[in-house]
Amino acid sequence: MPGLRHLVSIDDLSLDEIKKLFVHARTFAADLRASSELCRGMIAASLFYEPSTRTRLSFESAMLRLGGGVITAADMRNLSASKGESLADTARVVSGAYADIVVLRHSSEGAARLAAQYSTVPVINAGDGAHEHPTQTLCDLYNLWIERGHIEGLDVVLAGDLRYSRTIHSFAYALARFGANVVCVPAPGFEMPDYVLQRLREEFGVEPQRADAKSLGDLATQSDAVYLTPQKPHQLSLFTDARGFAIDRVDALYMTRPQTERHPSGAQLENYLQLGRRELSAESLRDAVVMHPLPRKDELSEDLDSDPRAIYFKQAARGVPIRMAILASLLGRLPALEREPASTTKHHPVTEGANPCVNPTCISRTEARHVPPQYRVSSRHPLRVHCGYCSHAIPLRLVGCSTTRHWHDPESVELRKVRPDHLVFLADLAEAERLGFAPATRANAPA
Ligand code: NCD
Repeated sequence: MPGLRHLVSIDDLSLDEIKKLFVHARTFAADLRASSELCRGMIAASLFYEPSTRTRLSFESAMLRLGGGVITAADMRNLSASKGESLADTARVVSGAYADIVVLRHSSEGAARLAAQYSTVPVINAGDGAHEHPTQTLCDLYNLWIERGHIEGLDVVLAGDLRYSRTIHSFAYALARFGANVVCVPAPGFEMPDYVLQRLREEFGVEPQRADAKSLGDLATQSDAVYLTPQKPHQLSLFTDARGFAIDRVDALYMTRPQTERHPSGAQLENYLQLGRRELSAESLRDAVVMHPLPRKDELSEDLDSDPRAIYFKQAARGVPIRMAILASLLGRLPALEREPASTTKHHPVTEGANPCVNPTCISRTEARHVPPQYRVSSRHPLRVHCGYCSHAIPLRLVGCSTTRHWHDPESVELRKVRPDHLVFLADLAEAERLGFAPATRANAPA
């Protein structure tokens, strides 16, 4: 039985736990009305600071089908947040007497992690800005598992807005861990963010390579700028094995809409991908299932709805049994989860200096007054540090040790000796001096 477990990132679950959730979901799906006693007497609170149709309704339906109750704040921006209440306070208030589990959607990256720190009940991340959407990923993986029988070794094309789609980021991390191959076909200008690629490389051992995507036919030619700008590839294939790259048969094609609500002003959408009958006629897509987290816009033609490869409505329907499995497991009513989460990466508080996170939409910036910044170390040498909330890389300029009061160059080997929780991220020499840090070696000393 789990202790207090949250689902903030897809990395919180081990592959074994994910597979157990699939088995429970399949049992629920066989008769959605058969488990109406499992969570009787329990209440889920859905707190949605951003619009949602499928995610909120499938969670609420799942909780009701389990015999539990639901309290909903479908537009949190109109409630306490508009009076200036911090997310931390909302999490403190709602968890406990009001609800036994909290489902949260928020526009700031890292919001669910923050809420989990203050909540006394499990928190489920139902989407935090452009960061992660772990339950959509469980739904997507579950669909692959049902349709293909396994996930290991599949070739999955991720297409569309890879930069701002949180569904893509969580899905890519999970596919990498399962040993599936991911082929990225971004709409021009919407490539996978560096922090996601870096994480895939450093934490999951995935190597990005250029792909020859000709066999994807018209789908790839719409983003063919890749062949014109070799220094800045638009198409990458991410490999978890060394068997080389040939897209001769794709198992799944996952399309996403442009996430316009998160785009900077002036984002160019003229060349956005469109998936229709013509694009799907490529030989390599002959047996590919077509997936989309929905809602769709023009990127997915209605012409495809009757194509047997199109599974996106089934995919949305399967959101209910998989969310039943997630809710019941986190509430301790199903044996699927270990006591401790799979990911053991430690998060450390930033003890000195300004918040080093430079992502303006991170919760540590949008609610700066209420959020103590934190970081995690993804590599000791070379030193790589990420914001503990939004996962964006923390730019390293001078790095201090809080006990010796020395600062080091980020490339310095001396830094290996500094304990991860003693690191201090200094913006410049002036900040180093102000906080009482001296250069660690003569070589470091300012001229
Ligand atoms: C996704 C989301 O909210 O990130 N939708 C969903 O949860 N089904 C994808 C999207 O909005 O494009």
